[in-house]
Amino acid sequence: MTDPSGTALALDAITKTFDGFRALDAAHVSVRRGEVHALLGENGAGKSSLMNVAAGLYAPDSGRILLDGTEVTIDGPLDARTHGIGMVHQHYKLVKPFNAIENILLSDPGERYGAAIDALTARVREVADELGFELDVTKPVGTLSIAEQQRVEILKVLVGGAWILILDEPTAVLTDAEGARLLETVRALAKGGHSVVLVTHKLNEAIDYCDRITVMRGGRTVDTVEAKGISQSDLTTMIVGADVHEQRAPSQSIGAPVLQVAGLRAARGDGHIAVRDANFEVRSGEIYGIAGVGGNGQTELSDALSGLTRSLAGIVTLGGTTDITDASAEERRENGLAAIPADRHSKALSGTLSVADNFAVGGVLRGRFGSWLRVRRRELEQAAGEAVEAFDVQGVRSLKQRAALLSGGNAQKLVIAREFSGSPRLIVAHSPARGLDLRASAAVHERLRSARDAGAGVLLISEDLDEILLLCDRIGVMTRGQIVAEFDAPFDRQSVGEAMIGHG
Ligand SMILES: Nc1ncnc2c1ncn2[C@@H]1O[C@H](COP(=O)(O)OP(=O)(O)O)[C@@H](O)[C@H]1O
Ligand SMILES: [Mg+2]
Repeated sequence: MTDPSGTALALDAITKTFDGFRALDAAHVSVRRGEVHALLGENGAGKSSLMNVAAGLYAPDSGRILLDGTEVTIDGPLDARTHGIGMVHQHYKLVKPFNAIENILLSDPGERYGAAIDALTARVREVADELGFELDVTKPVGTLSIAEQQRVEILKVLVGGAWILILDEPTAVLTDAEGARLLETVRALAKGGHSVVLVTHKLNEAIDYCDRITVMRGGRTVDTVEAKGISQSDLTTMIVGADVHEQRAPSQSIGAPVLQVAGLRAARGDGHIAVRDANFEVRSGEIYGIAGVGGNGQTELSDALSGLTRSLAGIVTLGGTTDITDASAEERRENGLAAIPADRHSKALSGTLSVADNFAVGGVLRGRFGSWLRVRRRELEQAAGEAVEAFDVQGVRSLKQRAALLSGGNAQKLVIAREFSGSPRLIVAHSPARGLDLRASAAVHERLRSARDAGAGVLLISEDLDEILLLCDRIGVMTRGQIVAEFDAPFDRQSVGEAMIGHG
């Protein structure tokens, strides 16, 4: 029973409501055999929800699912698997102490349980080789890198017999090089006859690696187009409903230094000296960008400046006079330093705490909502509610809802709402827009610009040169833990780029 149109999977008029909220509204997509199909849209557009329907995680309220042209019901993830549909989620479902083979064995409660582990190991190795995956299948998955864990998830699905592979934002957790490698693998899979749905909000991934692109917005399908010949700006219009084109808006008035860093030295957790003799300053009313290839000390600089780690040498001065070299994160915060770490989920938010409590973290310590012992909850919740409103944090149905339920963009807006609520004089932001879609990223940038225009100094540490060139008033290039070059606007992209790699 083969659909003559070559459609492997069709989702037709799928509607799904959560507590009265319509996450999917007659959404549809159809995926051909042997194609890589991008599912593109902003955070909250409904991409994961729609794919969860195909993967048997969500039962739709209405709509039809067709496989090879025949309507089916998918009754849970195991049933999806027997239908040849496998999904790799954004958060991996691996058992950390077990190795890859054990995890794959565990995922199949069926016949293979009794099969010889040797046969399974051979099969996994074979598939891994076909895909060009480097992976030690004997190590506990908890000791593997994120990219390797992702390979285990993909192997699990493929060894389980999936012909339709759904990858939910797979490159979000990878470096650029790892991402490119994965996408090449995906192309090879499609060439071998698999159908792959690549959920993403990155335009270039959709255009460069996919055959067709379906755009979703607000729970609906906007359209499906051929990737060949489509422009980024056409896609942007489909995604957000109108063009979002960020413009450069340089500082109008630069004042006295708010941050002075002299001879700073800081180490990684393993003792490796990652910041060596860093010297620079950030002035009031400017965005100072630290450009550089990742792994040149950016994270350690951000951690040392925000007080998450102690520096080994050097002097850090805030506001011209306050020596904060040895100050704790809390003392820095009290002195007007706000920090937006790159790893917002582990460093900036507690997923298990509510939205209101996450918002209040610093404020409670400063006594803003009463004493430690008697927190004035009404006041706290009112302030959190106002911030959620003012910073357009979406997806908050209750302030008591766990922060883990927020999408990436909205989690970041919550961190920013909290960090900006005390009118900081210095903001240290490390990759504040990483993983965010266009609109959320433009909103974050707008917040940084308006803090600057209100007189704060902003230190933007970013590995994204486009972001640096778009936002900054001055740029320092960081290589091997040092600022090796500084640039004033207007910037010459070529020169900045050469400084980034020239000293590597
Ligand atoms: N299990 C769930 N419970 C409640 N709301 C949900 C659930 N899953 C998704 N949603 C909501 O549905 C909307 C679409 O989310 P999602 O499908 O995750 O979007 P995307 O993957 O495009 O970012 C969001 O507003 C999200 O909060
Ligand atoms: Mg999603």
